[in-house]
Amino acid sequence: MFEKQHLTLGEFIIANQDSFQYSSGELSRLLNGIRLAAKVVNHEVNKAGLVDIIGTAGEMNIQGENQQKLDVLANEKFIQTLKNREIVCGIASEEEDDFISINSFDENHQNKYIVLIDPLDGSSNIDVNVSVGTIFSIYRRVTPVGTPVTLKDFLQPGKNQIAAGYIIYGTSTMLVYTTGNGVNGFTLNPALGTFYLSHPDMKYPETGKIYSVNEGNYIHFPQGVKDYIKYCQMEEGDRPYTSRYIGSLVSDFHRNMIKGGIYMYPKSSVAQNGKLRLLYECNPMAFLAEQAGGKASNGFRPIMEIEPTELHERVPFFCGSKKMVEKVEEFIQA
Ligand code: AHG
Ligand code: MN
Ligand code: MN
Repeated sequence: MFEKQHLTLGEFIIANQDSFQYSSGELSRLLNGIRLAAKVVNHEVNKAGLVDIIGTAGEMNIQGENQQKLDVLANEKFIQTLKNREIVCGIASEEEDDFISINSFDENHQNKYIVLIDPLDGSSNIDVNVSVGTIFSIYRRVTPVGTPVTLKDFLQPGKNQIAAGYIIYGTSTMLVYTTGNGVNGFTLNPALGTFYLSHPDMKYPETGKIYSVNEGNYIHFPQGVKDYIKYCQMEEGDRPYTSRYIGSLVSDFHRNMIKGGIYMYPKSSVAQNGKLRLLYECNPMAFLAEQAGGKASNGFRPIMEIEPTELHERVPFFCGSKKMVEKVEEFIQA
């Protein structure tokens, strides 16, 4: 067995593949594909500040290459890497109108996995050197192997996920994921290009003192959410809580999981279902949250129980320390 603190992501994937209930070698190859794409995107994200020197989106850079917007580029890199692994039969991305079917017209094709991604989360933060991320969610297809994938393969409830995770391109770059046996975090050593297990068995504190919400939308929030925000600000017991909102779900979630807190993107009078996407953002984060002892809800029921009806569906999202999510549900349902 490897010493835990010296484990690389590659070693960890292999060491843990037997605990996975399905064909484990395939999932390992898929996770390795994500690991590779993460490094490529990390490299691009880190160059973002050089855009005036090497060219802006839509322009030629100094080498005569076309510069692309980072969310488009991240999307391409992930799709390319996953396509080439002969594991995935379908990909859906926040950046694409439709799902992509991969070689599934070939009846010899044995690919079983569906991947959904938000290739660049928090993209408005790129220009100002604030952390962004990538979110991924993995399912097994429900239609027979060797036939074309259909929408049905993508519209599965979050509870069917077999793996999910995110990459955070922050002060250091981390990959955090679950295959249903807890949550583990790996930090990239940029000098070596290797991810090391730095955060084994991550757990949400049962309660916390951070609330994260775009309070500029306060006036549009439902009364229950307004009341909960006032509750967070009240001087009583361990309150008032502190307010922290980066505007990158990945970063806000990551901080709250480590320190204890709640992230909220409620519905509002201007956005009936809030902003976040059920399939690319909420389900994977909900799987991670539950695996870390936290909770994720739309205010009324667990996120992962929702039966999706469309690819880009949005949903109100409350996610974080268990007790805090239960409390906001109380206010919303009052
Ligand atoms: P994306 O960059 O993938 O479109 O996602 C941005 C999301 C999420 O990361 C963030 O928490 C939220 O949008 C911020 O929205 P507001 O600016 O409306 O607060
Ligand atoms: Mn996003
Ligand atoms: Mn995005």
